[in-house]
Amino acid sequence: SKPKVLITRPDIPVAGLNLLRKRYHLIIWDEPRPIPRNELYIKIHGVDAVFCVLTDKIDDMILEHAGPQLKVVATMSVGVDHLDIVNLKKRNIKIGYTPDVLTDSTAELIIALLLTTSRHVLHANLAIFKGEWTSWSPTWMCGTALARKTIGIVGLGRIGLRVAEILKSFKVSKILYTSRTVKPEASKFDGEKVDFSVLLKNSDFIIVTVALTPQTRYMFNAWAFSQMKNSAIFINASRGDVVDQTALIDALKNVTIAAAGLDVTSPEPLPLENELLHLDNCVILPHLGSATTETREEMAQITAKNIIAVLDEEPEKMPAEYVT
Ligand code: GLV
Ligand code: GLV
Repeated sequence: SKPKVLITRPDIPVAGLNLLRKRYHLIIWDEPRPIPRNELYIKIHGVDAVFCVLTDKIDDMILEHAGPQLKVVATMSVGVDHLDIVNLKKRNIKIGYTPDVLTDSTAELIIALLLTTSRHVLHANLAIFKGEWTSWSPTWMCGTALARKTIGIVGLGRIGLRVAEILKSFKVSKILYTSRTVKPEASKFDGEKVDFSVLLKNSDFIIVTVALTPQTRYMFNAWAFSQMKNSAIFINASRGDVVDQTALIDALKNVTIAAAGLDVTSPEPLPLENELLHLDNCVILPHLGSATTETREEMAQITAKNIIAVLDEEPEKMPAEYVT
């Protein structure tokens, strides 16, 4: 009989789904909401592979119930913080993810957040409907330029490198970064590796692209915001939990920093009554970093191919195996 593959969403781009359809018996969660934990626990039992997304928390209790035939968990995301990497490895289960194919789309979204916050794009548009557009004004809705500013990128990886390359053409004066290792590619834009505190103190724009790990959880706390310039603009396209969100709300309310542009929050979705949604100096997007049709199709295909390689007993052919 055919291997069984659990797919945790009904709306996976067909380009990816079609690669799996003819080969395997697919068990597809068929509701638009994320698969609830108890359903994941039940449905994972006996499957050979899992095609999941970032809303599916896969921990050891879930893996234990899956059974020993489970060979691969492939997530349609670059982030793997929802997966219990340590126990997946212990159990010899291969881990697939989707780096590279989403780098350009995510970098483009970060540029969109930068410009939306620096030039008040969203609030200026909303002001029209509030009747506030009374005449052209020399001072109304003035923002701040990217040109000649210092940019700080926290966690310079693939996405951060691409953002930096693009920003070079915006004529920024300097790009600072933090990273566990020196990135030789950063010489392309004269990037300077500095300590976290140096980056916080000197950057006009702070862009977060670091992976969420126990070391980076809540790294943007009250202390971190207090180190930033009052004019600083904070952009997060990583994970909501790298930020102590209460500290961010305080920093925005007290204008400890000038503004924030967030593609990620904690939790997601953010409840409508959450204060962050009602601050004039905060722009929030519903986690759209990789959300272009082209990129999502490629992500679905890579995820499918990661599964096929393992189930065909050719794990060395996985297009993107996650290894720490
Ligand atoms: C998106 O946040 C991803 O991890 O792919
Ligand atoms: C953000 O700060 C905006 O005003 O759009």
